[in-house]
Amino acid sequence: MHIQNGQIYLENVPVTLLAKTYGTPTYVYEESRIRDNFRRALNAFRKNYDNFRFFYAIKSNNNLAVASILRQEGAGIDAASVNEILLAQKLGLGGEDVMFSGNFLSDDDIRQGLESGVIFNLDDIALLPRVLKIGTPEIMSFRVNPGYGQSEVGDFVTNAGPNAKFGVHPDQVMDAYRQAKAAGIKRFGAHMMPGSCIRDPEYFRFITTLLMDIIGKVGKELDINFEFIDLGGGLGIPYKPGDDKLDIDQAAALVAGVFREKIAEYGLKPPRLMMEPARYFVGDAGYILGTVHAIKDSYSRIVGTDVSMNTLARPAMYGAYHHIYVNGREDEARKAVGLCGQVCENTDFWVRDRMLPEGIDLGDIVVVENAGAYGYAMSYQYNGRLRPAEVLVRGDQHWLIRERETIDDLVRNVTVPEHLI
Ligand code: LLP
Repeated sequence: MHIQNGQIYLENVPVTLLAKTYGTPTYVYEESRIRDNFRRALNAFRKNYDNFRFFYAIKSNNNLAVASILRQEGAGIDAASVNEILLAQKLGLGGEDVMFSGNFLSDDDIRQGLESGVIFNLDDIALLPRVLKIGTPEIMSFRVNPGYGQSEVGDFVTNAGPNAKFGVHPDQVMDAYRQAKAAGIKRFGAHMMPGSCIRDPEYFRFITTLLMDIIGKVGKELDINFEFIDLGGGLGIPYKPGDDKLDIDQAAALVAGVFREKIAEYGLKPPRLMMEPARYFVGDAGYILGTVHAIKDSYSRIVGTDVSMNTLARPAMYGAYHHIYVNGREDEARKAVGLCGQVCENTDFWVRDRMLPEGIDLGDIVVVENAGAYGYAMSYQYNGRLRPAEVLVRGDQHWLIRERETIDDLVRNVTVPEHLI
């Protein structure tokens, strides 16, 4: 994004042109920024540990155009569900290019996961006998709960530690691998995902140490050669202006440093190092364009746009901050106003006092930042509202990559029984 003579551009396309062409609200993704983010991170890790690969957590943004950019860059896919394995297949990725990290799986999930031949990442020791009853994975890992988790989004996004539903309890990990080995499974990795949106490089060193101390003992005692160690996602981005960026070079150096140390300490054969971030690649490459449709002066001034909680759930769901620019007004003096969407819920009152340009007016185009991850993917239809359009920009080109929903989408799959007509 850049601003020139007051006009906001995504790559080289003015937001006014995008809003006019596609309407609002519309998600827009910058292709170059996704590629830059990916390459910056990959270089940082490869520089420190050559046998390294990223798997993109497609849950964050499952538009196949966006995922295709990351596939072109060499990423595998982290799938949270069987359907996400199918999405990966649509990208031409399967087998060991896909990591299946579902949780609380049904027998059907297990069957389809096994049939797909992807890396099977088991979320619980009790899952193992259920999987073995159906088949034997070629290569598998356990998702380890290393006993500690953290998140800048809030406690609800902390994925490990005593309050998390994910992963194998640290005390059960040895037993889990022992049982898997005894069952004849030959190829192993290990996995964890303790938290999301962390900008402190030290966190990544810390969690790597936790996992390697658990896994190192398993490798030594059971004589298992781990083929891969997957440290999960969690690479953070700043949401508030002025917040520091994650120093990715430092994070990579710290992780690789302790990884090597622990490999040596436990006498492991060096495994492939993997991570499966999402937010870091796509988060700051995505924006939502909205329109100011109504302004109310009541107890305070409230500006209403068509970017509602159903369009972007994060503010109402997590109290998350998303910065907002107003096209053509960024040079104006600021005034504190409230900001809301159009859903009939008071949680759709994003903020009571955001400093916005004082002249903000009906018809203005707003640009919501950092909406590329967990944005469209978490949108919904409450209040009869339709999911927005998605657009990709590159240089001065732009493509519609998902159509805006229509009224047909609200009644699709609905049947009214004869006696009610
Ligand atoms: N791997 C697994 C197993 C995950 O569960 C996740 C995200 C990731 C990787 C990618 O994490 P990232 O690199 O993006 O931190 N809806 C929340 C975030 C939930 C994260 C869920 N798991 C939000 O809007 O902030």
